[in-house]
Amino acid sequence: MERTFIIIKPEGVRRGLIGEVLSRFERKGLRIARLTTGHIPEKVAREHYAHLKDKPFFDELVEYMTSGMVCMAIIEGPNAIQHVRSLIGATNPVEAAPGTIRGDFATELPYNIVHASDSPETAIAEIARFFGTEEDA
Ligand code: TYD
Repeated sequence: MERTFIIIKPEGVRRGLIGEVLSRFERKGLRIARLTTGHIPEKVAREHYAHLKDKPFFDELVEYMTSGMVCMAIIEGPNAIQHVRSLIGATNPVEAAPGTIRGDFATELPYNIVHASDSPETAIAEIARFFGTEEDA
């Protein structure tokens, strides 16, 4: 059993895609262990994307992630990290295959609908950052 962390980004929430995105994880056979909505504070967005702080698109990315309500979840199941990354598709919607979330619902960066942890280390760090460390799921 493995846990991963996802964010349905502001335009995903604005476009009413929370149910669509979560249902794809559920249909795969994964479980929604925790679920919440809220706004990401700028400081937390900067921390979350700290690995990209030197990129030219960093400020725009932070502005976008803090521009509206998001939906955050812990998804769990066998190989959850890899399965969720496969279901969301490539980072750039132009490269994301049809059938993936980004391939089906997004057209251009940075607007790619959903974030998902990309390794066991980032999953642990992101779950702690956004849900705290309590194990009550
Ligand atoms: P990254 O962590 O590289 O990808 P992923 O979200 O698939 O783990 O990038 C984080 C976010 O930064 C990405 O979802 C959208 C945005 N981004 C851009 O706006 N332009 C870019 O050229 C890249 C690589 C990412």
